[in-house]
Order: sequence, then C-alpha cells, then structure tokens
Amino acid sequence: MRGIIFDGDELRLVDGLEVREPGPGEVVVRIVNAGVCHSDVSVIDGTIPFPTPLVMGHEGAGIVTEVGSAVTSVDVGDHVVLSTLGQCGACPSCDAGRPTMCRSTFGAQDMPFTLDGEPHYNFANVSSFCERVVVKANQAVPVPEEVPMSAASLIGCGVLTGSGAVFNRARVQPGESVAVLGVGGIGLNVIQAAALSGAHPVIAVDTNPDKADLAATFGATDFVDASEVDANLGIRAIRPTGVDYVFECVGAKALIEAAVSYLDWGGTLVILGVPPLGSTVEFVTAAAYLDVTIMGCRYGSSRPQADIARICDLYLAGRLKLDELVTRVYPMDGIHALLEDMENGRLARGVLDVSPA
Ligand SMILES: NC(=O)c1ccc[n+]([C@@H]2O[C@H](COP(=O)([O-])OP(=O)(O)OC[C@H]3O[C@@H](n4cnc5c(N)ncnc54)[C@H](O)[C@@H]3O)[C@@H](O)[C@H]2O)c1
Ligand SMILES: [Zn+2]
Ligand SMILES: [Zn+2]
Repeated sequence: MRGIIFDGDELRLVDGLEVREPGPGEVVVRIVNAGVCHSDVSVIDGTIPFPTPLVMGHEGAGIVTEVGSAVTSVDVGDHVVLSTLGQCGACPSCDAGRPTMCRSTFGAQDMPFTLDGEPHYNFANVSSFCERVVVKANQAVPVPEEVPMSAASLIGCGVLTGSGAVFNRARVQPGESVAVLGVGGIGLNVIQAAALSGAHPVIAVDTNPDKADLAATFGATDFVDASEVDANLGIRAIRPTGVDYVFECVGAKALIEAAVSYLDWGGTLVILGVPPLGSTVEFVTAAAYLDVTIMGCRYGSSRPQADIARICDLYLAGRLKLDELVTRVYPMDGIHALLEDMENGRLARGVLDVSPA
C-alpha cells in the first residue's frame, strides 16, 4: 500500500508499505482523508523530535475494515475519526475523565509498519498519511455517515484541540474577551468555540492579513494584522484593559512571552503552540502579579468519545463549521504542494485524499 514516510532527511510517497495484523482490542482502518497539521511540519523540521523512519500524519478519518478479538465499540464498515490518544481506560486519569493525562498515551513508539522488511514507526499512534492503519479500538471513534470524510478528517487534531482548549480547559464564559494568536487550523477552531461560548470580543491576530476573512467566517469579531501593528497595541485598541483569555496557536517563543502582557487583570494565557523542544520563555514577573494564570493544554484536554460526538452533533445541526476548514483536497503525491501552500498561508487546512489509487 501507499504511504508518506519521513526517513530523517526526506519526505516521500512510497508504495509497498505493509502493516501488521490487528491484535486483541485493535482495529484496522482504511484511511479516506487525512488533514495536515503544523505538528506534521514540526516533525520534518525537527521542532518535534521523533524517531525515524516513520509513517507520517495524525489527523484522519476512514472506515473500519477489520476488528481484532474483544473489540465491541466499533464494527467493520463504521465511519471513524482517529484519535491519537489510545488511553488505557483503567488508570486514575482515565477514571477521572482526563484521558489526555493517561501516562500510557505518550511515547509508545510502536513500529507496526514495514517497507521492504524495514520496520517503520507510526506517528502519534496513528500515521494517517497511509492507506491502512492498525490502532487501538478506542482510537477509532465512530461518527455519523452524514459527516463527509474530508470534514471528519480534521476533527482528530485541529478541531478537538482548538475547541477543547476553549470548552474543556479554559471554560470561557459568555461575555468574556478572547484573543487568538495564529489563525491556522488550531486557531480557527479556538475562534469558533469562543464564539459558540458567547465570548465577546473574539479578536483574531495573525501576521498574514489574508487570514482576516477566514477568521470572520469562524466568528472573530475583530482582526489584528500583526504584520502592520504590534499585537498588544492592536488588541488594546479594541479592549484597552487587555483580554480575559489569550490562546497562543503558533508555537513561537517570542509570542508566548509577549502574550502575557495582552491579558487583563485576572486573565489566562492558554499555550497551544509547540515551540522547539527545550524552549524556555521569559516575561516580567510583575505582569503575572494580578492573578494571571498561564496554562498548557494537550490535545484540547479532550475526551475523544464524548467530544467527537458533540462536534458531529453541532456540525449536523449547522452550529459548527467543518467544511469551511477544508481549503483544498490534494492527491497523496501532492503532499509537497500542500506543504508549500500551507507555508505560504494559503490554507485553513489542506487535506490529503488517501483512498487507494
Ligand atoms: N497543544 C496541542 O495539543 C497541539 C495540537 C495540534 C497542534 N499544536 C500546535 O499548534 C500550533 C499551530 O498549529 P496549526 O496547525 O494551527 O498551524 P498553521 O500552520 O495552520 O497556522 C499557524 C498560523 O499562525 C500564523 N502566525 C505565524 N507567526 C505568527 C505570529 N508571530 N503572530 C501571529 N500569527 C502568526 C500563521 O500565519 C498561520 O496562520 C503548532 O505549533 C502545532 O504544533 C498543538
Ligand atoms: Zn495536530
Ligand atoms: Zn489511562
């Protein structure tokens, strides 16, 4: 089968990949569409170190084609969104409804693939840039067939992370003010969830002025072009006292440092972006004196089964946008064109068509 691999130097589409049989509690999913998240780019440029060779991708949707023994949650033929967690379901964090804090969800580094006999890692327990994957049954979250695969393919990272940061982690309340730094796949979903929560104003900030219309489509009330004006001045022109929440959705050290000063008294900075491993930040401590909170957020602090069902319900009711996130669908051999378009700010999200050729 075909898949997009990274060998440490080069990203390339290969044929002849094989994946192992599903074990007890595992399922095989035929991927139909995969979204490309900035974290994929970060693996290639070394921002997120990951052992190689690996099969890329972590956002995707597809159809279950095989189930291992003891699987009861999905059946062959079910449409599913892939979650990257694969939580154990039995530890204290899982029991407390916090699967993103389950210790078994990190660093498993399985090698379920082979290419010409050489084992390949799966990225983020998923590897969605590949025709067939083997995942734990709780990573294959069933979704209604009415949700198009292209839209569904973005739920497993961008939508869960962005909306979950607002709904689950920050718990933004009606009337609270929000600034969103970075109008990419993550930022757009933060904007949309903040608007759904009744936040006001919802200020989108990006260095690419072409993102203004997209931000407005997802519910931003204002746009600050950070290539023209300092973000702090732009935000304070709208909210002179600063905002209740800043969501950093870029992964830039300097932006995280600056963001603390965009906050109102008692405000909260939510860090979603992932700067290079080992990065440190510095800010004037007095900036945090007035009850400022700085919080991280992994994967939208999501509970994939509950949150993906909620996202699909809202989408089918016309309350949450997914199709508008899909700027373009590329064939698998168009991955380099997709990455170039992403780099040049032309995409909300680029999606790969991973159906067998
Ligand atoms: N916390 C998590 O669990 C989690 C999950 C997924 C992705 N991420 C991270 O979130 C970040 C964003 O991912 P994405 O897929 O949305 O990226 P993206 O490439 O789609 O979007 C990034 C956006 O930021 C803008 N930008 C760049 N520099 C800026 C600046 N200085 N000020 C304002 N805007 C700026 C770009 O123009 C672009 O619109 C990445 O660091 C990614 O690794 C984190
Ligand atoms: Zn991602
Ligand atoms: Zn657990």
